[in-house]
This record gives sequence, C-alpha cells and structure tokens, in this order.
Amino acid sequence: MVRIGLLTSGGDCQALNATMRGVVKGLANNVDQLEVYGFMNGYKGLIYGDYRMLTSQDFSGILTRGGTILGTSRQPFKLMRTPDENGLDKVDAMKQNYYKLRLDCLVILGGNGTQKTANLLREEGLNIIHLPKTIDNDISGTDMTFGFYSAVNIAAEAIDCIHTTASSHNRVFIVEVMGHKVGWLTLYAGIASGADVILIPEIPYDIDKIISAINKRKERGSGFTILAVAEGAIPKKIAALPKKEMKKEMAKILEKYPSISYKIAEDIQKETGLEIRVTVPGHTQRGGSPCPYDRILSTRIGSEAAKLILEKNFGYMVALVNGKIKKVPLEDVAGKLKGVDPECQEIADAKRMGISFGD
Ligand code: F6P
Repeated sequence: MVRIGLLTSGGDCQALNATMRGVVKGLANNVDQLEVYGFMNGYKGLIYGDYRMLTSQDFSGILTRGGTILGTSRQPFKLMRTPDENGLDKVDAMKQNYYKLRLDCLVILGGNGTQKTANLLREEGLNIIHLPKTIDNDISGTDMTFGFYSAVNIAAEAIDCIHTTASSHNRVFIVEVMGHKVGWLTLYAGIASGADVILIPEIPYDIDKIISAINKRKERGSGFTILAVAEGAIPKKIAALPKKEMKKEMAKILEKYPSISYKIAEDIQKETGLEIRVTVPGHTQRGGSPCPYDRILSTRIGSEAAKLILEKNFGYMVALVNGKIKKVPLEDVAGKLKGVDPECQEIADAKRMGISFGD
C-alpha cells in the first residue's frame, strides 16, 4: 500500500493536471494498492484539513486540461510561521494532517514560494517531493519548468496578432508579458515572434535607447515597431538607486500608470509623436491547454516522481537538467530565483539579429 498527498500551490499554469496524472499513473501501474489524497486550494487544504480521496477517474482525461483539479491559492512563505487569526500554528496543522492520513509522501507542485514551504516541511521531517511549475521558468536547479512553453506559445501568438495590425497602421505597439521578477517568458516570446525591442527586469532600460531603436527602424523604412515588455521592466535610472528608494520610485510610477508599459508608451509618444498602443494578454498566458512540449515534460516529471516514491527517495525536486530528468536536493535550490543572465547566448544571438534590449 502506498499513500500519497497531492497539492498545487501558487499561481496556476497549464500542465499541473498533466503532471499529477503522471505521478498517479506511474504509481498505480506499479503498486497493488494506492491511496491518493488531494488537498484543496494549495497549502490551505493541508492547513485546514480540506482534502478528498481521489480515484483513477479523477485523473482520466486531464492530460490536456489547463488549471488544476485541486484548486490553488497563494500562501506567502513569510506568513507560514505566523499563527492564523484563530491562533492556529500553520506548520503544526500541516504536519498533523499529514500524519493523520499516514501519508508516505506529499507531492507538492508549485513555484518559488511553494518550494520554500515544501523545504520547510521537509526540514520538519515530512517526506516531500517538489515538482517545478511556473510560466516564469525562474526555479533554480532545473532548465525548464512545466507551464513555461505553453505560456511562451500564448504570448508569442499575441505578439504575432499585434504584428499584422501594427504594420497595417504603422503604429508602435507594446505587448506586456508576465514576469515581475524575471524575463524568461518575455525573452522567449519576444524572440519567437520577432519583436524589435525586448525589455526584461534583468536588463534595466534606457528610454533614449528604445527611442533610437524605433527611429532607426523608421529610417530603414519600417513604420511600425513591436516591443515585448516584461511586467517587471525597470528604467536604468531607477534600477541604479538603493533598493528602498528604487521600490519607492517604482511604486510612484505604478500609482500613476496601470503598469510600466503605459509609462514607456507615454515617454515614447512624447518624444516621437508616434501613434502607440499597449496590449496586455495578462492571465491568458496561464490559461488553456498545455502545449505538447509541456505535456511531455510533465509526464516525464510525474513519472520520475512516482519512481522516487517507490524507491522511498524523498526531499527532492524533480528537474530537467541537460535534457535528462534528474532529482535535485530541495535544500540546494529552495528559495533561489533563476533570472536571465544578461550575458546568455539567447541574448547575444538576439542582439546580433538587431533586437534592442534598451541597454
Ligand atoms: O508566477 C506566475 C505569474 O503569472 C507571474 O508571471 C505574474 O507576475 C504573477 O504570477 C501574477 O500573479 P496573480 O495571478 O496573483 O495576479
């Protein structure tokens, strides 16, 4: 008999169901008896004992279904050690529910914050396996997170659509791509869709450089320009400030504009007089079906998680490393953000193609 718990936490993404299916199928085919408990709405379900026993029926037909059959929520890591409004110690509560169900392992699907709590539960003695999900691809220790390529497809498609209308009207267009802290999604979607300017948090931008990229295109006869801008793009002048001041200055901008893209649009418009529009695909980037790449990655990650459970190998994140599925100790990676290296090959290649990063 094997008893496992499953939970999905943090922002959702496209291949959560596909990954859980991989885990459960990988176990069901290799043990006589399997009990699967699904905790509802992220860590909340584990804290407050909101769970249900899942059957093979629950995992049938979900390879292609986006979202998560368990629901999810954001539970900030910094509040995990803080008792709730009724004085309940959340970490104790999670441990009690784990032991009450006599789980052999808790499989946790989530991003950076989720991973930190997963590692905390590991330190508290629970058998944990973490599976790296996020459209942001910002988890250390894995080359790829599931959800990322599905989101790249959606963001790139949005930019493709903008391309045709931008060229018809000779307009400058900003497409704002998700990613407050890291620019992987913007970088990949921007390259995939032929954006002319790509702005990511890791490379603070100089507005004059962006304007000169637009003017250069005009001189060469291209009347339109497409900018792929990450939510977390930051002006060079502000990025150079001490952290506290930097946050204050960014907060001032976000008080005045719905997002940084609108500030960039206004700055370009003032300087060039060109017609400019902003498009924000927003949460569509996390929605819909996982792309085939993510379905395969998720199936491989889920299958490896099943193998680790059968071997009683706990305390790991399942990762993709140089094309191979590997186990990485949770303690080595928990809480480490994987940003884009401004010197990386993708950026060097893109710059050679004439893409401006505003630096
Ligand atoms: O972490 C994934 C992500 O989609 C980020 O790219 C984005 O900045 C954030 O979540 C949006 O969060 P929420 O769903 O809480 O609006």
